[in-house]
Amino acid sequence: MELFKKELFDRGIKRVVVSEDEIRARIAEAGKYIDSIYDGRPILLVSILKGSFVFLADLARAVTVPCEIAFMAAKSYYESTQSSGIVHITMDLDRDISDCHVIIVEDIIDTGRTLADVVKLLRSREPLSLRVVTLLDKPERRAVPFEADMSLFTIPDLFVIGYGLDYGEYYRNLPYIAEYGE
Ligand code: IMP
Ligand code: MG
Repeated sequence: MELFKKELFDRGIKRVVVSEDEIRARIAEAGKYIDSIYDGRPILLVSILKGSFVFLADLARAVTVPCEIAFMAAKSYYESTQSSGIVHITMDLDRDISDCHVIIVEDIIDTGRTLADVVKLLRSREPLSLRVVTLLDKPERRAVPFEADMSLFTIPDLFVIGYGLDYGEYYRNLPYIAEYGE
């Protein structure tokens, strides 16, 4: 990706899958959903880096309950098609969560392995409650059973980029979600 970098970059954006307007509308609904569940109680939004950073920024501004933010990054390693339950935390939370209503904020659920493991880990720390909100869900790709409490968009088995999601670390700053194509 060097000589005609910009040209190759642009060609990777095959077609828009979810527009900015659609994202904005669903995030407003997600904010109302969160407000209605927690009914004024403070929450802790836990963003799984890096993919969820854009979603987190917009979702946090759509809720009106008192809201703290925390970040973690995780990589999962698997020896077989079964979830090993081994999640490698490359960056852990900087706080105890035992007195928190936690919402994990994820960009996309694909095989489900990362979130299955992250949820298991955070549950072991005994928060007051734990829910998962994901921007995107690709249920066709699931390898371990996993369901989010709220998914903003269900998409078919496509590789998507933008709004936080990357291909080779590029495209995270696209304001919409697009299908990646070479
Ligand atoms: P899984 O659910 O454990 O398979 O992993 C989900 C992670 O894989 C997400 O958090 C993304 O970082 C990455 N991922 C899965 N599908 C896509 C995609 O279509 N585009 C970009 N990243 C993806
Ligand atoms: Mg991710």
